[in-house]
Formats: sequence, C-alpha cells, structure tokens
Amino acid sequence: MKSDDSAKGKDKNTFLTDISEIRRRARQHIEEGAVTDSYKGDRKTVLRVLNEALATEIVCVLRYKRHHYMAKGIHSQAVAQEFLEHAAEEQEHADQIAERITQLDGEPNFNPEGLLTRSHSEYVEGESLIDMIKEDLVAERIAIESYSEIIRYLADNDPTSRRMMEEILAKEEEHAEDMKTLLETIAREERHEDRAKAS
Ligand SMILES: [Fe+2]
Ligand SMILES: [Fe+2]
Repeated sequence: MKSDDSAKGKDKNTFLTDISEIRRRARQHIEEGAVTDSYKGDRKTVLRVLNEALATEIVCVLRYKRHHYMAKGIHSQAVAQEFLEHAAEEQEHADQIAERITQLDGEPNFNPEGLLTRSHSEYVEGESLIDMIKEDLVAERIAIESYSEIIRYLADNDPTSRRMMEEILAKEEEHAEDMKTLLETIAREERHEDRAKAS
C-alpha cells in the first residue's frame, strides 16, 4: 500500500514537472504562435502541401461558380443551386486552410499565376449540364484521393492540420455523393422524357 502511494506520488511529481516544463517552453516560445518545439511536422513540406490544398479549393470555387452561372436547360434550376452551395463550401475550405497556413507562420498563396499547377483538381468548363456534373464529380474524386494522401502524410506530425483536412475530406465525399445523385436523377428523368416523347 505504502509503496503504491509513493509510486503514485512519484508519478504525480513527474507529471507536475512535465507540466511546468511545458509551461516554461510555452512562455519561452510565446512569440512563435502555433509553431513550437513540439511541432513535429516538416514545416516547409506541410506549408507546401497546405498551399496545394488551398489552390485545389480555389479552383473548385471557380469551377462551381462558372457551372452555376452556365447551368441551362430543363433540369438546371436545382442543379445550379447545388453548384452555388458547393462553391460556398469550397470557399469556406479555402479560408480554413489559409488560416491554418498563417498559424504555421506561412503565407497563403492566392497568386493566380500557377494556380492550376498548384491545384490537384482541374478547371473544366463542360458543355452540357451533364458534362458539368461529370467534371465536378471527377474533381471531387481527385480531391478525395489527394486529401486522403495529405492526411496520411500529416498523421501524427501535425494533428491539428490533419483534423482540419479530415473535416474537409468528409465534405468532399458529400459533394461527390451529391454529384453522383444528380447524374442518376437527370439520367432517369431523361429516360422518362424520351419514353413520353415516343408514346
Ligand atoms: Fe473543398
Ligand atoms: Fe468539394
């Protein structure tokens, strides 16, 4: 019993020492913001990867905006609304990522020059409504692939950036699902219309 107590006491002391050491380090590096000695990530690589994700989001905002304004035809209204919602959500993602980059003492790259080179997803305008939805689905799938890779890279090196990217990834999966559902709905409706015309 006694030895247990002393063991506990020892643990407690060790713990307290650690806490005060952590506090000391936090005070020492207070001017460094989120980047401290305990930041394990390779900052340069993390910043590059986050700037690529930022470029991907900006390209997605632009593509969805273009599709929103260009959506025409019998099924266009609901689809155009969906494009607009996605554009707004991609903008939110871009803002979250830019904010995280500044927390890591980096600079968010909003330079239009080289935007498509930095971005993982593409900017494809698409002729018809179906083409646009297909292009958006492809872009979402690319984002899902590359964000999954980014998350694996961040792993335990930068848990905060990793969690942010996981939240964004979940949203991209929803976006892909939305586009897939739209494609199926429109294809079904078009089959109905064709049948109605034929009869
Ligand atoms: Fe996004
Ligand atoms: Fe998306």
